[in-house]
Amino acid sequence: MISLTTERLLLRRPTEDDIDPLAAMDADPEVMRYIGDGSASPFDRDRAAAVIARAQREWDERGFGMLSVVVRDTHQFAGWVALTVPAFLPEILPAVEIGWRLSRRHWGAGLATEAAGALLRYGLIDRGLDRVVSVRHVDNHRSKRVMDKIGMRFGFDAVVPATGRPAAVHEITRAEYVRDHDGSAERPHV
Ligand SMILES: CC(C)(COP(=O)(O)OP(=O)(O)OC[C@H]1O[C@@H](n2cnc3c(N)ncnc32)[C@H](O)[C@@H]1OP(=O)(O)O)[C@@H](O)C(=O)NCCC(=O)NCCS
Repeated sequence: MISLTTERLLLRRPTEDDIDPLAAMDADPEVMRYIGDGSASPFDRDRAAAVIARAQREWDERGFGMLSVVVRDTHQFAGWVALTVPAFLPEILPAVEIGWRLSRRHWGAGLATEAAGALLRYGLIDRGLDRVVSVRHVDNHRSKRVMDKIGMRFGFDAVVPATGRPAAVHEITRAEYVRDHDGSAERPHV
């Protein structure tokens, strides 16, 4: 499992210390508004622990997965970014999806963009993926801005079968990423 360092953030292997802040983040209805069916889970330590255990397995099995986002100055857990297989949308498989979730106190400071940009680069350049997608609820404009800012373009609309909710699929290929980065882009420390 890798770790990445950006200007303000450390993206690192999830640990047991992340269980409580992860459960608290997922219990916030505003955070969960556009996720799944839109309902927040109650604070559930066991579920958060299972998420972290699965994240550790996925890195071993696939060579990519979820990383905890930690603010370097404060050592605070801010949320996560992840490269995953979007099984919830079978029509786009095979694919690798990049996703992100931050606790609300960390929104609006560009942290999602900073974390996602580093992980996208890792996926396409260091891990050598040909293409990365990102899927959002059509009304999730904050997430769309993150997708725009890390260079992903709108691909097509879809409907998530399990929830019936409308989604927009954004994508970027390795060739597009290389074309759009002239080599001056800051390279995170791997
Ligand atoms: C999506 C999320 C990670 C974004 O985090 P963030 O730290 O606010 O992201 P950033 O600050 O990097 O960028 C957010 C951008 O959205 C913009 N934005 C904020 N509210 C917006 C709105 N209502 N409509 C359009 N853009 C909006 C911000 O201005 C910023 O763009 P800018 O830098 O050009 O000003 C965060 O809101 C989150 O965790 N949401 C809940 C989980 C979630 O929905 N995950 C994504 C599932 S697809």
